[in-house]
Amino acid sequence: MKVIRDPGRLNKLLKGLCRGAKSIGFVPTMGVLHPGHLSLIKQARQDNDLVVVSIFVNPAQFGPKEDLNNYPRTLKNDLVLCRKAGVDLVFLPDSKVMYPEGFSSFVNVEKLSDMLCGVARPGHFRGVVTVMVKLLNIVAPSVLYLGQKDAQQAVIIKKMVGDLNFPVKVKVMPIVREKSGLAMSSRNLYLKQDQKLAALVLFKALCLAKTLIDHGQRDAGRIINRMKELISKKKQVKIDYIAVVDLEKLDPIKKINQDCLICLAAKIGKTRLIDNLLIAYD
Ligand code: PAJ
Repeated sequence: MKVIRDPGRLNKLLKGLCRGAKSIGFVPTMGVLHPGHLSLIKQARQDNDLVVVSIFVNPAQFGPKEDLNNYPRTLKNDLVLCRKAGVDLVFLPDSKVMYPEGFSSFVNVEKLSDMLCGVARPGHFRGVVTVMVKLLNIVAPSVLYLGQKDAQQAVIIKKMVGDLNFPVKVKVMPIVREKSGLAMSSRNLYLKQDQKLAALVLFKALCLAKTLIDHGQRDAGRIINRMKELISKKKQVKIDYIAVVDLEKLDPIKKINQDCLICLAAKIGKTRLIDNLLIAYD
């Protein structure tokens, strides 16, 4: 496994290695790798000749009051996990290389970036999309692997890939959860034991929604209210939003008579958690 810090070197190396004939699977991450990330790497390993993982805590996607400086970093362990998972190349760029002084080009997916998580995190998705454009240009992968955990991020990146004609296939992999049901996230490391227990109510609320739908409830408003009722029993958990939306435009749905996504964000102490559930309508 090679660890490469220089974008130009990685680009050259990959071009030389595959000469257009080999497929490259790419998994972008911010490190602190957990089984969620590893599921993407595993799929990339199964599907492709070469697997590239990037580890880069992207400053452009953090707001001024967010956790950029405190974002957990576990590089040594991340590299061990990558090697074990059969990764060929780890791209480990420096912020100053990715955003040299005077950097001034940003890519924004309009509308989709302003809803749901975009409301509480203005500029966040602009930062995500900008770094993704850079990473896709540097790695030039055949397939990009993303997690359903960040459902809005996946929708936005897919839109950008289509709108800007990036020649890459996007595969979105299911959410990996802890045994308790809590969606795995690097930010779970911030949670104290009691907060982690309280956080379970988020998945429970999604399961409640699923049960209500299975029993014939189609009114999104009523489902959301029942979820809010359940979550509000945990005083530590402050809901940011709960929404039932369509899968492409992320527009709110009133009556559930199509495939949709139930998504939510909540704060526990200073930690913001997100989770979601795909509902297949039949
Ligand atoms: P990060 O939070 O490190 O996540 C990297 C990838 O792993 C994302 O596609 C995310 O959706 C996926 N992932 C995280 N937790 C998961 C889980 N429990 N189950 C399945 N997949 C999971 O998302 C980012 O980094 C950044 O925004 C990035 C795309 C790298 C751009 O900077």
